[in-house]
Amino acid sequence: MTMVSIDRDGEIAVVTVNNPPVNALGQALRQGLWDAVATLDADPAVRAVVLICAGRTFIAGADVREFGLPPSEPHLPDLVNRIEAATKPWIAAIHGAALGGGFEVALGCRFRVALDTASVGLPEVTLGIVPGASGTVRTPRVAGVAAAVDLVTTGKPARAAKAQAIGLVDAVLTGDLRAGAIAFARAALTAPLPLPASQRPVTDPGPDFWAEQQAAVSKRARGEVAPLRALACVQKAAQAPFDAALAFERATFLELRASDQAAALRHVFFAERAAPRPPHLGETQPLPLRRAGVIGGGTMGAGIAAALRDAGLPVVLIERDAEALARGIANLQAIFDGGVKRGKLTPDQAAARMAGITGATDYAALADSDLVIEAVFEEIGVKRAVFAELARHCRADAVLATNTSYLDPRAIAEGLPDPGRFIGLHFFSPANVMKLLEIVPTPDTAPATLATGFALARALGKIPVQAGICEGFIGNRILKRYRAAAEALLRQGVAIAEIDAAMRGYGFAMGPFEAQDLGGLDIAFLQREGARAAGQNVPETLGDILVRAGRKGQKTGGGWYDYAPGQRQPQPSDTVAALLAGQITPKAPPADIAAHLVGEMAAEGAAILAEGIALNAADIDLVEIHGYGFPRWRGGPIFATTPR
Ligand code: 3HC
Ligand code: NAI
Repeated sequence: MTMVSIDRDGEIAVVTVNNPPVNALGQALRQGLWDAVATLDADPAVRAVVLICAGRTFIAGADVREFGLPPSEPHLPDLVNRIEAATKPWIAAIHGAALGGGFEVALGCRFRVALDTASVGLPEVTLGIVPGASGTVRTPRVAGVAAAVDLVTTGKPARAAKAQAIGLVDAVLTGDLRAGAIAFARAALTAPLPLPASQRPVTDPGPDFWAEQQAAVSKRARGEVAPLRALACVQKAAQAPFDAALAFERATFLELRASDQAAALRHVFFAERAAPRPPHLGETQPLPLRRAGVIGGGTMGAGIAAALRDAGLPVVLIERDAEALARGIANLQAIFDGGVKRGKLTPDQAAARMAGITGATDYAALADSDLVIEAVFEEIGVKRAVFAELARHCRADAVLATNTSYLDPRAIAEGLPDPGRFIGLHFFSPANVMKLLEIVPTPDTAPATLATGFALARALGKIPVQAGICEGFIGNRILKRYRAAAEALLRQGVAIAEIDAAMRGYGFAMGPFEAQDLGGLDIAFLQREGARAAGQNVPETLGDILVRAGRKGQKTGGGWYDYAPGQRQPQPSDTVAALLAGQITPKAPPADIAAHLVGEMAAEGAAILAEGIALNAADIDLVEIHGYGFPRWRGGPIFATTPR
């Protein structure tokens, strides 16, 4: 099948786009569509044109791979204008997703019909750009200014029903899209045609609306450039003639396309898509994942069980006794109740999630499980005992995984009759929310077990990153260096609040000290104490001094900061100043605190890479973005510190 083919159903022509995998609008496809308009305009037998796509989706946008290259003709805005100006009406027939340039092509069509499962949207801001082919100009003319602002500044797609409700699509169809679109086209020809989008009026909602939106978008975007620039494009569209607004949008698009933020977001886009299927897995097939088990229903076990249920897997939850099991089940209930409260789940869905959980204290309940994930206390003896039970009760082909943060997975697997089916699967808290999954094979892990870890990540919608064995794997090892570097600044006399503010200014939601206060200083403290007890030389940290003084973070009313009862607002603490006074030797701080700390993260990342703990630099960036709140639009510590 060629990239653009034309066939006929009586007086209706059907243009089919076939450019796998997602029908991206590369130069050849733009040219093919351009030529199709000319061909069909010249054919007197054709009265309307249905534009439909082969494969998994409608046109998913411009070809992101072309963004580093000079624009080539025909340009997309010209193509959209050309389709709109065709002498016969075009009808976009949408399945999958019509995104970015794909939706802009659909906006050039006189009508849009969509399958009920489809979605439409303008996700350009997620790539650090604005729509570049009239998305900000035609959308307000089709769906109104407020809907356009929402669509372009968030980048979130709208499902078919909502898209119809706000006027983005004209009809929602079920069943055979091609037949439905042809029938729609025939019916449309019996009535006067609506105006093309570019000729429709648009109402400027006035200065108050724009001021409100600017405030809201800047608050949300925090350092990201594109959302505010997208808002400015919609404002221009509401206030200037079509052509002037189009020129403004195109200039903004071309400027941002060449920006650092766009380059960073493209890097992340491709890294995320490469992560789930790393080339070294080759053709190795994963084992089937139909039923899962989780050992331990605490913070992590409950979160992991919830993630498995969200993906539709039945889960057996094992706890050490009936009381602990009841707490684990209550933890799960609280997670799903939270989903209902936030409108993410209906009460029925939450009930169904719970119904798929079987609680047990007897490992015999795991006899059917394809995969079991252990999330019990971080103690080698406890974990080994659990795996001995698993070896006894699980099927011989079941994958057995540990969620350990710091223990050596090889030591946990010791004594397993078949270490080939053992693997580390390191989730991040809250495990049903955080996207990162570190996958830690041991030297004995079988290829199929490793492939199953990646398959699990895909099933759970997580970003998998393979990590080698070292203390803290990739993420916690970098975190340790980051915290140590932040403490070193403190020892030089830089204020705690100044360091946190610098990292917030860089784009983190929180600085290193306020983040520790939220999570608790005691976890890392106990880990250091454990290492000391085992005879390792772990120097005293400033955090140790605080924990020894009872300051474990927000949960004890204070850590690096003080907190007023019931408040989460950090207040600089005189107590902390007094506790640390003897530790401070003033020294000129680095000129740029954030650059210094990110440089430290990158240096640890480089060491991790050199040791083969991470397989590539992009994986390290993904770990920081999806596990540790590194600002996505900076591209991750390695990307951000690599000169280009
Ligand atoms: N350009 C180039 N390649 C793209 C692409 C694009 N716009 N969108 C997806 N791909 C590639 C992916 O890199 C991946 O390649 P690989 O198989 O070699 O790894 C392949 O297509 C499949 O992608 P997914 O794994 O993401 O497939 P899914 O089926 O899970 O999702 C999708 C499909 C929802 C369409 C998703 O790919 C997606 O969201 N794509 C991005 C859409 C987007 O951002 N469009 C806007 C582009 S900017 C633009 O249009 C500017 C315009 O205004 C001028
Ligand atoms: P937790 O203390 O909240 O939960 C542990 C649970 O395991 C408890 O409910 C306990 O009753 C249960 N348990 C203990 N021994 C058991 C046994 N023999 N059989 C069955 N259940 C048993 O601990 P948390 O935070 O959930 O941590 C669990 C594991 O996950 C640890 O290895 C930890 O290092 C790791 N981890 C923790 C993260 C976090 O942020 N809390 C992040 C990533 C990993």
